[in-house]
Amino acid sequence: MTDRRHPAPSGWTPARCAALHKRAFTHPRPWTTAEFAALLATPGVFPVTHAKGFALGRVVADEAELLTLAVSPEARRQGVGSRLVRGFEAQALAEGAATAFLEVAADNRAARALYRHLGYRESGRRKGYYRTAAGQLVDAVLMTRPLGRTGEI
Ligand SMILES: CC(C)(COP(=O)(O)OP(=O)(O)OC[C@H]1O[C@@H](n2cnc3c(N)ncnc32)[C@H](O)[C@@H]1OP(=O)(O)O)[C@@H](O)C(=O)NCCC(=O)NCCS
Repeated sequence: MTDRRHPAPSGWTPARCAALHKRAFTHPRPWTTAEFAALLATPGVFPVTHAKGFALGRVVADEAELLTLAVSPEARRQGVGSRLVRGFEAQALAEGAATAFLEVAADNRAARALYRHLGYRESGRRKGYYRTAAGQLVDAVLMTRPLGRTGEI
């Protein structure tokens, strides 16, 4: 894990983040190098990194948002995503957040399973929030989890 005072010592530059994002997302659309650079310079935003993936979180007051999460395709189902989310929660808790939340595309089966596995529960929906490459509208699912009782993973 990293913090904002030592951004991405493991080599997760904005360009590398954008390259993995491109392999991981169609909707929401992948973020560009410039977008990652701007986000990483935004107060309250912090990266969490692993050799095979990264997450970005943001704390505002007592709420923490998991902005994005991606694991290299060849390293999935090995616990990397879980470690990154737990790292995000630990950092958020250290910064005073009491609740974590995120948005995930309703058709993203893997991510929804991961978040459920880690104790997140559906707390709302935005109808037709994302548009797929084929033009189909997909709901965004809002998921939340109270912090302060991080699991064993
Ligand atoms: C979603 C993602 C981050 C999961 O990362 P990961 O490293 O594979 O996740 P983990 O290995 O920690 O998985 C933990 C648990 O989540 C669930 N899970 C993860 N991927 C799953 C899948 N493809 N199908 C079903 N369940 C899945 C399982 O319960 C899994 O435990 P198990 O492997 O013991 O069954 C990864 O698939 C990814 O990068 N996807 C593309 C980007 C993305 O969708 N990001 C999230 C956007 S909100």
